[in-house]
Amino acid sequence: MNRKFSNILVTGGAGFIGVNFIRYLFEKTGFSGRIVNFDALTYAGNPASLRDIAERYGSGRYVFVRGDIRDRAAVDQVFADYGIDAVVHFAAESHVDRSILGPKAFITTNVMGSFTLLEAARSAWKLSDGRLRDDVLFHHVSTDEVFGSLGETGYFTETTAYDPRSPYSASKAGSDHLVRSYHHTYGLPVTISNCSNNYGPYQFPEKLIPLMILNMLEGKSLPVYGDGKNVRDWLYVEDHASAIWTIMNKAADGESYNVGGENEWENIRLLERLIEIVAKKAGKPVRAVRDTITYVRDRPGHDRRYAIDCSLIKRELGWKQSVDFEGGLERTVDWYLANLAWVDAIRSGEYQKWIEANYGRRG
Ligand code: NAD
Ligand code: DAU
Repeated sequence: MNRKFSNILVTGGAGFIGVNFIRYLFEKTGFSGRIVNFDALTYAGNPASLRDIAERYGSGRYVFVRGDIRDRAAVDQVFADYGIDAVVHFAAESHVDRSILGPKAFITTNVMGSFTLLEAARSAWKLSDGRLRDDVLFHHVSTDEVFGSLGETGYFTETTAYDPRSPYSASKAGSDHLVRSYHHTYGLPVTISNCSNNYGPYQFPEKLIPLMILNMLEGKSLPVYGDGKNVRDWLYVEDHASAIWTIMNKAADGESYNVGGENEWENIRLLERLIEIVAKKAGKPVRAVRDTITYVRDRPGHDRRYAIDCSLIKRELGWKQSVDFEGGLERTVDWYLANLAWVDAIRSGEYQKWIEANYGRRG
């Protein structure tokens, strides 16, 4: 496979991974086409994260459209206006804790929104003889959480049976199944990636690593769920972006690839390492920061361990991680230290005022 894309629709491109993916495409690849970033700007979306990209590339190469993937007319309009020939589907409700508190948005966006997007793609890419174009691609960005929870040993492979255990992972599993069904039933050219935990710049400060960095800087307590021994496999976000781009360019239609860091950490061990890095950079005594660790009530249904076997994408497509965990954590802490204004704007609601001024009031 060697595909060429001219007009890529990135859904959820104002969120953590979407922002990093768009930056990666413009800054680290030879991509010379246009990106249309379609995002509803929920609490997690912030187009200010790409303000410099918008200024540099102008409307010829980068377009932001505020819109909801559940809104069929709005999605159809984007396909029609921009001659979309590839979709990279990030848009989702993504935080497990929120899915436990209020699952509905996860079902409407992650399942119904994905369905709406698939229908729009199927319609836009239909030829006059009823068949679908084969020079287009729908790439679906999914998670390792669809595979459930591991014990102390073993890895998720591409053939591991789905076993989602939170409303978030169940809704992502639903969308994965829909994407595959559109390939098998209608011949829609699709690829899927199931990735482990990402970390890096622009991550919303409700997720473990940015939350802990900011709490450390502010002298707040560091809430560890349960016994702190749950294990996650961490990947630097730019390596996820490069994996998606590799799959889009090289994978056969209908294929899924697991993507991971091969980098497992118990939460408490990760936190201890992060404390050492932040304390040093912020000039705080390590012991004082360590004293703020607070064990709190566990997340209901908390998955114990995720670990990805990503040997297939390495072997078949030649992808590999480029950022080691030590270097990635340093870069991430440096980024938050240098971008406290980005965090303040989120927390104070200042960026919401900017969004309303530029894109209208949130629905
Ligand atoms: P995020 O929560 O930071 O961003 C999600 C983006 O989607 C936001 O910009 C939000 O405004 C937008 N969005 C939400 N609902 C929408 C809707 N109805 N219509 C249009 N836009 C909408 O999420 P993230 O961490 O960047 O994750 C992106 C994708 O990657 C998700 O599909 C997630 O399941 C997947 N993923 C995330 C990780 C991770 O570690 N963060 C790992 C593997 C896979
Ligand atoms: O595995 C991929 C998934 O990783 C993605 O699909 C999700 O979108 C993404 O949010 C992430 O899910 P997790 O639930 O693993 O990430 P989170 O950062 O919320 O939590 C990481 C671990 O840290 C998890 O075991 C719960 C724990 N935790 C989290 C928070 C926010 C704490 O102990 N304390 C906390 O305050």
